[in-house]
Amino acid sequence: MKHKNVDFRNLSGRGVWRYKNLIAGKYSKMVTLNEGATPLIKSRIYKSVYYKFEGANPTGSFKDRGMTVAVSSAVSNGYKVVVAASTGNTAASAAAYASRGGLRSYIILPKGKVAMGKLAQSILYGATIIEIESNFDVAMSSVMKLYKEHRVVYPLNSFNPWRLEGQKTIAFEIVEELGVPDNVIVPVGNAGNIYAIWKGFNELYEAGSIDRVPRMIGVQAEGAAPIAKAVEKNLDQPEFVDNPETVATAIRIGKPVNWKKALKAIKLSKGSAITASDNEILEAQKELARIDGIGAEPASAAALAGYKKLLSSGKISDDETTVIVLTGHALKDPDVMIKADARRILVNPEHLDKLILGDLGL
Ligand code: F0G
Repeated sequence: MKHKNVDFRNLSGRGVWRYKNLIAGKYSKMVTLNEGATPLIKSRIYKSVYYKFEGANPTGSFKDRGMTVAVSSAVSNGYKVVVAASTGNTAASAAAYASRGGLRSYIILPKGKVAMGKLAQSILYGATIIEIESNFDVAMSSVMKLYKEHRVVYPLNSFNPWRLEGQKTIAFEIVEELGVPDNVIVPVGNAGNIYAIWKGFNELYEAGSIDRVPRMIGVQAEGAAPIAKAVEKNLDQPEFVDNPETVATAIRIGKPVNWKKALKAIKLSKGSAITASDNEILEAQKELARIDGIGAEPASAAALAGYKKLLSSGKISDDETTVIVLTGHALKDPDVMIKADARRILVNPEHLDKLILGDLGL
């Protein structure tokens, strides 16, 4: 979408629809939960790092930015039913926005591999939950087939361009609050979000509103890293992973549908992609929570894990302004949180003073 030079001072409202003149498409009805306008939080320990905390969205992930636009489009075009394959967050968000738009929703999930918080949300919002004994990639291709053959159900996955239109507002908010950073680091699964954020920056660049685009850096989990490996090996096309595995279930994806778009965003922004191990991801999740007080789910913490590796290998310097996109809230995945090392002490309440004073060495 081509824009004229964008003057942010002329915009009004907060969140995704503040940028409605920059979002493609016409909407006769807007289905919104006031998503977006998420906090940009400065790191306490890394000099030039900011966290864009997308966990603060209405259903706890960045998916809400895309869902408000896609569900508005579904309603404006007369659809009554939506469908989405998901590793969990798309499901929760689709179910919520479908409710808000008065639509029925069908959610296709890989059985046993969806974090408890996300499954619970989909149940609460009233979606019909269809579980398959396979992985996300199979669920995804069955939704694409369904849509090709039966156009009555509206697909809410990120091959839907309206999703990406909404998600690009992450870039607009960063520019308004901070200007153009040197790097933006994003966890990559189905690979739509890294492209959407780049698209947001690129549209402002083409409009002459900013003078450069940040390097887009993707992070994938080691066991589900077709894009990061393609970038590392300089391939034009990723080698898909048949049985992806990682603790970061949100990005447990072996055949990302948006791989072409993601590689384009990385290449044109002179960015890169890197992997993080499950251990590095869990350490980063704890670091975020215990040093900065930010609760992010494992997939989101992968972005910090990637930053730490790039910093220690000297590929990024601590002078470069870097925005790390924390895509989802820690509460999404209680099973992972509760396995973190903890000090939990059972005590007779009468001995509380002795325990704490003793613990403090007093
Ligand atoms: N972070 C979180 C928390 C996610 O839920 C996802 C994707 C991503 C990162 C990756 O974004 O797919 O655009 O590269 N979750 C999807 C879902 C696949 O079904 O919820 P992407």
